[in-house]
Amino acid sequence: MSAAFSAGALDPQGVAQHLSPACRAALRLQVQPQVTSTNLLLRRQAEQGAPEGTALLADAQTAGRGRLGRQFYSPEGTGLYLSLLLRPAALPLDRAVHITTMAAVAVCRAIEELGGGPAQIKWVNDVFLHGRKVCGILTESALNAQAGCLDWAVVGIGVNVCPPAGGFPPELDGVAGAVFDTPLPDAKNRLAAAVLGHLWACYTGAPYAAEYRRRSLVVGRQIRVISPAGQRSALALDVDDDCRLLVQYPDGRREALSTGEISIRLAPDPG
Ligand code: BTN
Repeated sequence: MSAAFSAGALDPQGVAQHLSPACRAALRLQVQPQVTSTNLLLRRQAEQGAPEGTALLADAQTAGRGRLGRQFYSPEGTGLYLSLLLRPAALPLDRAVHITTMAAVAVCRAIEELGGGPAQIKWVNDVFLHGRKVCGILTESALNAQAGCLDWAVVGIGVNVCPPAGGFPPELDGVAGAVFDTPLPDAKNRLAAAVLGHLWACYTGAPYAAEYRRRSLVVGRQIRVISPAGQRSALALDVDDDCRLLVQYPDGRREALSTGEISIRLAPDPG
């Protein structure tokens, strides 16, 4: 699929005009046409004491970072790349995964609000539309060792807003998709504002956990559990309150998988 249109360009006023007054007051927007990685640059700002609510948005990344040390495809023109700095007072390290899950819910809500279609979440950090990955999320954080909680967290969100001209690179072909396949005026600014608005709402108390479960693409399905020890088939049973994926192996044994050490692949649908 090749794009006959672009998703437009981000600009600070364009994003701000779609934010609620409360969000406008809480967030400090920084918008760049191209950066190495919004996560990398915002992490540096976090280390230098930047305040909670600092958000770095870019139209392209030259060194986009994905989970497990992977690169994240971040071309100009068609994608939205943003990172938000949070300083969650007293959030224990093992609760940091909740930042990723609330971001996933926020992206789904934003996509649907803008008419992109029914969005689902592949545990723990991927958003899917019509069976294709349209968004990846990477949360990076620093521990306050004395207090035993997070000093800061940078949640990074990359969205394929429309299909790149010439299609996705071969390694993403058939896997990646885009939110819109027809032009939507001001798509990036509107999507960025909607994502930030919903994420801020969840962070400041709006419920999201039940919706995370409801939007799960994996619960009830056969998956492959991939760990350094190898791959195993399993049935995904549920996501628990700690955002662990509960699975059952063919021998009946059950396990609660934590993000970080394990990744999963959906097994093909039988028939
Ligand atoms: C993944 O799918 O593995 C997670 C991808 C996260 C990509 C986003 S794009 C904005 C932010 N900056 C980065 O370098 N990575 C995240």
